[in-house]
Amino acid sequence: MASVPVNELKQHIGKQVELRGWLYNRRGSGKLLFLQFRDGTGLVQVVVGKADVPEPVFETARRIGNESSIIITGLVKEDTRSSLGVEVQASDLHVIQEVHDYPIQITEDVPNIDKLLDQRHLWVRSRRPHAILRVRSEVIQAIRDFYYNKGYVLFDAPMFTPASCEGTSTLFEVPYFDSTAYLSQSGQLYGEAGAMAFGKVVVFGPTFRAEKSKTRRHLTEFWMVEPEVAFLELDGVMDLAEEQVRYVVGRALERCKEDLKVLQRDTTLLEQVARPFPRVSYDDVQVLLQKLKAEYAASSDPELQKLAKDILKGGLGDDLGAADETAIGLHFKQCVMIHRYPRHVKAFYMKKDPQNAERALCVDVIAPEGVGEIIGGSQREDSLEELLSQIEKHKIPMESINWFVDLRRYGSVPHGGFGMGVERCVQWITGCQHVRETIPFPRTIYRLNP
Ligand code: 4AD
Ligand code: MG
Repeated sequence: MASVPVNELKQHIGKQVELRGWLYNRRGSGKLLFLQFRDGTGLVQVVVGKADVPEPVFETARRIGNESSIIITGLVKEDTRSSLGVEVQASDLHVIQEVHDYPIQITEDVPNIDKLLDQRHLWVRSRRPHAILRVRSEVIQAIRDFYYNKGYVLFDAPMFTPASCEGTSTLFEVPYFDSTAYLSQSGQLYGEAGAMAFGKVVVFGPTFRAEKSKTRRHLTEFWMVEPEVAFLELDGVMDLAEEQVRYVVGRALERCKEDLKVLQRDTTLLEQVARPFPRVSYDDVQVLLQKLKAEYAASSDPELQKLAKDILKGGLGDDLGAADETAIGLHFKQCVMIHRYPRHVKAFYMKKDPQNAERALCVDVIAPEGVGEIIGGSQREDSLEELLSQIEKHKIPMESINWFVDLRRYGSVPHGGFGMGVERCVQWITGCQHVRETIPFPRTIYRLNP
């Protein structure tokens, strides 16, 4: 008998099948046992009746602990009460490995996430992480499909790099034979070389930042998707970011319904992603934040009062902080594109706004529901002279960046792109409190294990 995956059982109603996998949980005793069986594709209830199987099989089913590996033979029956629509009436059960001391309790919530993360190699079998990581898988596939279908060339950037892309404060240094390499903070600079060669490229890979702060949205290793396009100016960068976010969220809503249900995700705001994203300048956002700060401070909601204290904490004219982004999300209840930040808070490669030398032609996409920035992008400085002066201002060693300057010496054109952190996007879609749940093995300042 061929074995059938749980998610295909519905096509086998009325038939005998073999299931291969693990015992997830068990209820019942006496004459009837209800095994929750999992095989990675889903969970199904297997009913073991004392009268329906040989005595030793019933004893085994009663005795084995969670995560014992098993092969079950049984009849598939329709069961309209379960979300799967079927259950299995067991006629035989064979144990591959009997387990009695599985270290994780079956719980639906995350009571002690640090302890569970210590067991991450096992915890990924549980329903919640399983659902989150399936959404991640769909998000990544959607990203790949989006760019592939639009004719972008996948252009891989190196992980060992000679220079910093996003400032030196979060650089990981690695001994590299007789010199020092840095783990890539972003593949963008290489993406720009790709855009000049292929027109439209997308860099997609892991990136690294030595983030010393402990927040719920920072990892030290995360995945970034970075399109980079020749002749694309800031408005085009915003159009592309909007289209990509809408596509990715749409795919997750369409194909991860069951997973989002497991996560009890209220998808009301996610469905709003189809509406246009407001585009607001940094200067207008400052005015809005001052207004929201006053409004929340006067509110009777203690949460809002607390938030009000942290709004514009950096002061007017500074980079936006987490509270600012939360307030913006609360206000718009939709992804918002904030453009033209002050140049001094942004990276060296961003193009100066020709209308205002203090501003950069850049955009951040802020997701609602407390997630904050999911995308950072810009039009790039395409003038050789301006770029050289920025490199000098940011004290970037010329020998490590000269190759990049070549891109402005040989056929420079206006161009731009952005980077989206996959984990931040998955955090938003799944409604996870902390970004560390959105990657199989999170790396943070406090975690290198397992
Ligand atoms: O805004 P960032 O720093 O932009 C860049 O790196 C550009 N070079 C991208 C480009 O234009 N090609 O980072 C981009 C995104 C952020 O918006 C966020 O989603 C994610 O990367 N990100 C992080 N995600 C998790 N943990 C961290 N420590 C992150 N830092 C950035
Ligand atoms: Mg950013």
